[in-house]
Amino acid sequence: MTFGRMPIANAFLTADEFADEYFFELAPAFCESCGTFQITEQPDAEQMFHGAYPFFTRSSRRMVAHFADYANWLRDTYLPADPFVVEIGSNDGAMLENFARAGKRHLGVEPSSNTADVAREHGVESLVAFFGAETAVRVRDTHGPADAIIAANVMCHIPDLHGIAEGAAKLLTEDGVLVFEEPYLGAMVEKTSYDQIYDEHVFIFSLQAVSSLFAPHGLELIEALPQDTHGGSMRYVLARKGRRPVTPSVGNLLAREHELGLHLASTYDRFRDNCETSRRELRALLDRLHTEGKRVAGYAATSKSTTVINYCGLTPEHIAYISDTTPLKQGKFSPGGHIPVVPHETFAADYPEYAVLFAWNHRDEILANEQAFARAGNKWISFVPEVTIEDGTNA
Ligand code: TMP
Repeated sequence: MTFGRMPIANAFLTADEFADEYFFELAPAFCESCGTFQITEQPDAEQMFHGAYPFFTRSSRRMVAHFADYANWLRDTYLPADPFVVEIGSNDGAMLENFARAGKRHLGVEPSSNTADVAREHGVESLVAFFGAETAVRVRDTHGPADAIIAANVMCHIPDLHGIAEGAAKLLTEDGVLVFEEPYLGAMVEKTSYDQIYDEHVFIFSLQAVSSLFAPHGLELIEALPQDTHGGSMRYVLARKGRRPVTPSVGNLLAREHELGLHLASTYDRFRDNCETSRRELRALLDRLHTEGKRVAGYAATSKSTTVINYCGLTPEHIAYISDTTPLKQGKFSPGGHIPVVPHETFAADYPEYAVLFAWNHRDEILANEQAFARAGNKWISFVPEVTIEDGTNA
């Protein structure tokens, strides 16, 4: 299927940059033989991850708490007493900070220097680099083998997964684990959350795909744990084949994937139809509100919103502005749709009548914070799993 011409999801821009905006075709595909769901054309990594990368993990308090739990679970389940932990795509250090504070050996490998600088401010040792076989050898030579290589919402960004797997096989200790959690294909298909698909998300993983992608490198899936973050994610644990027991979670969740039909091309034909229905309904609602002269804003200029805005053809006529707490996005325009991004203070000073919840993955956190918006009679517009209007006063 195709979502059409798409800009880079996090390339917020100024008006003088409109003429040179970069576009590519966002077209996902499914491979029935290995179970991989991926986009078929990707912009160069350097166009997405650089010294002005505008996404900071710390923009969500709930995610920071989630990473503290992730770190504790890892320590209690898989780590020796004095571990060395390497994170791929360590961003602003929200995860590794938990090891840094406990005085544990760690290293973040992060290609965006601006986010790595923030990590260092939090005491997280960071190497500005893309992770792959070469970086893995460099890290091993300077720091020794890793007991765990971890990642969150990063592995799906990396087209050269075989380079990652090869790097992991070189860097891990004999009993080391590769652990990552990413948006889950099963959740995306069930919820029609097509906005998980954008330039950075090369893959939307399933257990079936992860098992077959890493097996050629001697890495075996030993545990899988569903997560409710980012609208439905999965945490995968891999180890060298035969070194650690495979937990029942793997067989159970693979059976569930079969029930869902994740291995069948026909499932993705249905997914495409559901995406088209969602687009029609959201566009019809926003067209109607525009005709009625309602004031509509967007809430959170997420990467995901770029797919929704461009696929549905939304313009500043539909959505006057998007409120976002990230200073690097404020004062700029959203990619492709060119909707102005403003600070949250602008939203709070004069509530719109409707707010499109682009950060639906942070729904609980946001609806709890925005009780005053809802109590003043204003409404939320959601589009996952369905296009709905709700008042949000009892969140
Ligand atoms: P994400 O969905 O990719 O995690 O991006 C979250 C974006 O949402 C990020 O730009 C910060 C923004 N945001 C807000 O503006 N307000 C909020 O309350 C939250 C949780 C996020």
